[in-house]
Amino acid sequence: MLKWRAQKPRFTTMAIKLFIPGPTIVSEDVLAELSHPMISHRSKAASELQKSISDNLQKILFTNNRILLSTSSGSGFMEGAIRSCTAKRAAVFSIGAFGDKWFKMAKANGIPADKFASEMGQPTTPEMVDAALATGKYDLITVTHNETSSGVQNPVEEIAEVMKKYPDVIWCVDAVSSAAGSKIETDKLGIDVLITSTQKALALPPGMAIAAMSQKAYERTAQVEHRGLYFDLRTIWDFIDKKNYQYTSTPCLTIMFAMDKQLKHIVNEEGIEARFARHEEMAKWTRAWADEHFRVYPNRNYLSKTLTVIDSHIKATGELLDFKALNAFLATRNMTAGNGYGDLKDKTFRIAHMGELTIDDLKEVTSAIEEFIRK
Ligand SMILES: Cc1ncc(COP(=O)(O)O)c(C=O)c1O
Repeated sequence: MLKWRAQKPRFTTMAIKLFIPGPTIVSEDVLAELSHPMISHRSKAASELQKSISDNLQKILFTNNRILLSTSSGSGFMEGAIRSCTAKRAAVFSIGAFGDKWFKMAKANGIPADKFASEMGQPTTPEMVDAALATGKYDLITVTHNETSSGVQNPVEEIAEVMKKYPDVIWCVDAVSSAAGSKIETDKLGIDVLITSTQKALALPPGMAIAAMSQKAYERTAQVEHRGLYFDLRTIWDFIDKKNYQYTSTPCLTIMFAMDKQLKHIVNEEGIEARFARHEEMAKWTRAWADEHFRVYPNRNYLSKTLTVIDSHIKATGELLDFKALNAFLATRNMTAGNGYGDLKDKTFRIAHMGELTIDDLKEVTSAIEEFIRK
């Protein structure tokens, strides 16, 4: 039996059960860390805190690359990565809202970039990456691992095979809504900058971004003159050497205390593999349920493991689900689900199965949705 099954739910019945793709529920013991007394961010204790966080993140992300932290949401590091590491031109592969956002960031920073978009619900294919890189125009690519708007998980293992042909290209991956819920073997895949946020599958409050950065990406930054300052990955990297695991300015120590507690839980108590298995089981269960009553929205070969995006047409009646009314109904049961994102609003809805949720929680929300559509 998996370890997590033996545990009690980690949050109280008072907490609103969030089935939105972030922020996710934070467990009681981790919330308690948010009231930890402050320390000096230039103290030995601060260095020890950041080192402990970095060591455990390396385990969860399967990497020896350097862990960088930022007091911002994940978007800060997305912008920082494309700006700090593009010397020539970036190829941005977009499969939805968050890939589009990365392209906008490039443009807003004056970084030469081209967007390679897939249809909604479809992945970035290794062939697309190969064709773009074969032109020799690009020295950096960005790929979304898990597109939270469409529910697609990109085939990063296949893309990794293509990337082996282009050793000078920096590979940035947005794993904001998947890291710690879906296994990503960063070093085996050869990802140079992997980015995530605290408020998704890591089940922490929002407010910090995490990046795992390779030596190759670090070396690239030396060729980029205008990297900005606050989100300059090179400055943040150098500070870790210079100040023994400290941050360039004052970090959100509050979240760092909570993060240290949660990462220790993931690594030492639940176990990393057990966490992935739990997410996999929740994903399979939710998809099967969605197929029975609706239809899973994206291409079935590329389904996310941390959320399911569902076409809002009710199978039994052909009618479109009234999502607003559904969420009002769920609120009476202390739960909330996610509407579709951007253009998919009211055409799809989203059930996230990430963080601390268990299959029992998924059963609770899906049976409430069934009750609602039967009314
Ligand atoms: C796939 C993906 N990328 C990036 C972001 C942006 O992350 P943040 O809100 O932490 O800046 C999100 C947020 O939902 C996301 O789902």
